[in-house]
Amino acid sequence: MSAIPSVIAQCDPKAGYLACKDRIDAAIARVLESGWYILGREVSSFEQEFRDYLGIGHAIGAANGTDALELALRACGVEPGDRVITVSHTAVATVAAIERAGAVPVLIDIDWQTFCLCPDVLQNILERSDRPSPKAIIPVHLYGYPADMPDILDLAVRYGLYVIEDCAQAHGAGLQGRKLGTWGDLATFSFYPTKNLGAIGDGGAVVTNKPELAEKVHLLREYGWDQQRISRIPGINSRLDEMQAAILREKLKGLDEDNEKRRQIARLYDEGLQESGLMLPPQANDVDAVYHQYVIRTKNRDDLKSWLRDRDILTAIHYPVPVHLYPAYQGRIEIAGSLRHTETVVNEILSLPMYAQLSLTEAEQVVEAINQWRKQKD
Ligand SMILES: Cc1ncc(COP(=O)(O)O)c(C=O)c1O
Repeated sequence: MSAIPSVIAQCDPKAGYLACKDRIDAAIARVLESGWYILGREVSSFEQEFRDYLGIGHAIGAANGTDALELALRACGVEPGDRVITVSHTAVATVAAIERAGAVPVLIDIDWQTFCLCPDVLQNILERSDRPSPKAIIPVHLYGYPADMPDILDLAVRYGLYVIEDCAQAHGAGLQGRKLGTWGDLATFSFYPTKNLGAIGDGGAVVTNKPELAEKVHLLREYGWDQQRISRIPGINSRLDEMQAAILREKLKGLDEDNEKRRQIARLYDEGLQESGLMLPPQANDVDAVYHQYVIRTKNRDDLKSWLRDRDILTAIHYPVPVHLYPAYQGRIEIAGSLRHTETVVNEILSLPMYAQLSLTEAEQVVEAINQWRKQKD
């Protein structure tokens, strides 16, 4: 009997659950038995543990990463009509959250190497703009690689902008020995199941070192309520639930180990694909990337994708269309300067299989298949 060929998945949230099934099952049972399902001990313990993990003053749970961005923007005092700068090469959520806060997204180009917001472009736009000055900027640490925070912060200070780091893809990543999420005025996280720290459902968090901003996020996430449940400011309902918090507490214990496994896979890809002709992800001595995605670049992307698909190796494209070209935004969203890098990379990027439970043998098979593809093209 011939063995059924097994598919190599691009990501596998179920494998993340099975890796610590007993602890997660026990955590779920603990919540069920507690009888307390919203904003209880699990959420406050997770907030404390996540805060300690990042080395930051405050962490506030939210219902998801999009809400977390909206809460962070509103905590900065972003109001309807205010302009907020971010990139177009991101999950649509980054831009959707700006509009949810009533603000006007202004999309700018990315750095050619890092896929993240380009400080030179930012500087140009801030220097030359005759529009009202923006209120905030959201650098996205895309694929688990840091945006250039020192340069971005310099500009933010010079132009009086709030900085909100979108860390949805960068749990545990660092730059110059300092964790991402601790650089800006605030930072937001998503715990969507496929993230490096993923729940079994939706979840998010806002973190900050500034007590006054933390206090505002606290109020905003639950109707603007104070201790007496009197709404002090208009808020929303965006609570992290007890079940997800309990699961996240268990997952957080293994985050560093999971990130290290991702790095091992990335090293294997880096070495194995040296001669592949593909453009590989950036590396730098002061960067501690967490490889939410391992994204290669080639002009023959679609051909490589289907070659791998035919060999039961699944890949993905994060993201096939920049936000400013989605029907929901095209023609009405403000773009500043040229988005030529953004519009070029979307046709070239491919996310290889990457998750902590992917075995090194499977990763070797990916390398082998790509190198075969390369050979038949020569
Ligand atoms: C960069 C980025 N920002 C924001 C979000 C939004 O997170 P969520 O899906 O939890 O709302 C995501 C998740 O998809 C993301 O990848």
